[in-house]
Amino acid sequence: MEEMFKTLPQHTCSWLKSMPTLYKYQDVWNTQEFVEGTILAQQNFKADPSDVFLCSLPKSGTTWLKALVFAIITRETFDVSTSPLLTTLPHHCLPNCLELGVERSNENYTNSRFLPIPTHIPYNSLPQSIIASNCKIVYIYRNMKDVLVSYYNFFREKDKIPVEDAPFEVAFDEFCHGISWCGPYWDHVLGYWRASLDRPEVILLLKYEDMKKDPTSNVKRLADFIGYPFTIKEEEEGVIENIIKLCSFENLKSLEVNKSGKLFGDHPDSTENRLFFRKAKDGDWENYFTHQMVEKIDKLIDDKLGATGLVL
Ligand code: A3P
Repeated sequence: MEEMFKTLPQHTCSWLKSMPTLYKYQDVWNTQEFVEGTILAQQNFKADPSDVFLCSLPKSGTTWLKALVFAIITRETFDVSTSPLLTTLPHHCLPNCLELGVERSNENYTNSRFLPIPTHIPYNSLPQSIIASNCKIVYIYRNMKDVLVSYYNFFREKDKIPVEDAPFEVAFDEFCHGISWCGPYWDHVLGYWRASLDRPEVILLLKYEDMKKDPTSNVKRLADFIGYPFTIKEEEEGVIENIIKLCSFENLKSLEVNKSGKLFGDHPDSTENRLFFRKAKDGDWENYFTHQMVEKIDKLIDDKLGATGLVL
């Protein structure tokens, strides 16, 4: 595989020196580790028709989606006072990402055969057996401007680089050129959007901002779609509202595990859990963008996504 990487377009991040080199594989930018993981998944992963996939571009609400899905699926085993979410980072409640070598075992948490499998792999690069097996896919997407700001702050803070040493305008330009983890942003969104039009029965699109505005109906849609619908009795007993509160940004951010734990333990490249819970504020981009940036990105969003009806 080493030889193949020499032939791929490469990019060295110019706003964050510590960022690993990105490679363009199948029209998508990613690190060597994630590209290798994608190839291995494409070659080896055998989907079961009952598998459900949670797909997203990084910084689009993955952590929230994972928490909600876990709480929905395990609600008969745990209530909101005993949920593992109180002591475990949501990422650790579900199997590893597909591209990092999914482990399907979930004996500790649920009687269901498999828990949903997360992935950032774009639709067109998913292993064929996922498509052929008609597996269900939930895709969460978020306003491009807030994803960019979230992405910038996540990687800058991960490597403890002060704002002065990580020029936002350079990060902005790179992102708008399509260069970011799993970027271009618009291709990722478009891939799942197109697939959802072709195969609406197996692909559910959730918009981060809509989930915030109306969490109850979106959580119900999500539960119905993944095969764990709420009963009328559960609705009357407030089970949906309890799950929403358990998985709320404020609650998860305040938990000790999410304030002090680390994603990969003591590994030198580990990420502090707290970085997955920054502000969760719609429109935080307004604190970062100049007028020229707004004009440029609005035009880009219109060019790339204007025709889709996806209001981002
Ligand atoms: P901000 O950086 O704008 O705060 P991902 O999970 O895909 O990495 O996305 C991270 C973004 O989701 C961060 O956005 C984070 O604060 C926000 N987030 C994390 N948990 C959330 C929750 N429970 N509800 C809403 N947003 C959440």
